[in-house]
Amino acid sequence: MFANKKQRKSLWNRHVVITGGSSGIGKAIAILAAQDGAHVSILARNVEKLDDAFREIKKYIVTEDQIITRVPVDVSCLEAVENNLLEIEETIAPIFMLVNCAGFAACGRLEDLTERDIKRRFKKRREGIIVMTSSVVGLMGMFGYSAYSACKFGLRGLAESLIMELKPYNVSVTLALPPDTDTPGFENENKSKPLETKLMSEAGGLHKPETVAKQILEDALRGHLFSYVGFESFILTTLCIGMSPFSSIIELIIQFILLGPLRLIGAFYIKQFENIVLKCFKNPNIQEKKD
Ligand SMILES: NC(=O)c1ccc[n+]([C@@H]2O[C@H](COP(=O)([O-])OP(=O)(O)OC[C@H]3O[C@@H](n4cnc5c(N)ncnc54)[C@H](OP(=O)(O)O)[C@@H]3O)[C@@H](O)[C@H]2O)c1
Repeated sequence: MFANKKQRKSLWNRHVVITGGSSGIGKAIAILAAQDGAHVSILARNVEKLDDAFREIKKYIVTEDQIITRVPVDVSCLEAVENNLLEIEETIAPIFMLVNCAGFAACGRLEDLTERDIKRRFKKRREGIIVMTSSVVGLMGMFGYSAYSACKFGLRGLAESLIMELKPYNVSVTLALPPDTDTPGFENENKSKPLETKLMSEAGGLHKPETVAKQILEDALRGHLFSYVGFESFILTTLCIGMSPFSSIIELIIQFILLGPLRLIGAFYIKQFENIVLKCFKNPNIQEKKD
């Protein structure tokens, strides 16, 4: 919303690598990239899930020449990832877009492969796109997400620093801020989600992975820093804009005008969240009643 219309890059015949591409948002991005004519490599741990996703993604290729590859690897093992990436670059093509989607809500793993050799290779080629998957709780803290939120906040710092470091090399960085999205990962997360967190998230609704993936891909191809879905995420992203880079004067003016009024709307949400926490604290039986 209100983002400037930068020229959209093409994925045709380009190589897109997606960590976490066997499920949820990552798989939805892989399918869209295949539909756009890209070679797609997906990385994840579970071989069966990778095989299923591989077969599904293959159905969406638009030319015979497109190569779809699956790589069983744990992204927390950087050395194994590096070796695998080198191999697929040699056999397919240099990586044009790297989408970091591997992760889960109970955080605690390295979710990012942009440091070290990947960054060096993008710099050498003087083109490329890096996508990091954060979350709306990468912009604001929320009950029940303390560890997860800390990791996702960190990705913003990493993304903004990388943008400066990579600007002279024509490499863009996009930070995806998905809202609640209907994926196997989200279903899993719900099993241990505190009632307070559920009540706070209810208002935001549940989004389809295809919608979120489409927005991420569009924003990444247009070189936007933030990728968000929905009006509430627009409010939050604008409110938290701080010292983030801006992509046009129009965008800057809109942020300048909206920041004050949006602070009031934000304060209303914060009060509501605080009320939920107090209500649940005073009525410990509320969880059982809800179940
Ligand atoms: N869904 C949401 O509501 C939501 C909201 C905000 C942000 N996000 C973020 O979006 C990203 C994707 O979430 P999702 O809901 O699509 O999750 P998902 O359906 O659980 O998919 C996660 C993917 O990551 C892979 N993965 C996890 N750990 C890995 C590891 N150590 N090494 C390699 N692959 C690994 C999984 O495959 P294996 O398990 O086989 O390795 C799977 O392919 C995550 O970073 C999540 O935090 C999601």
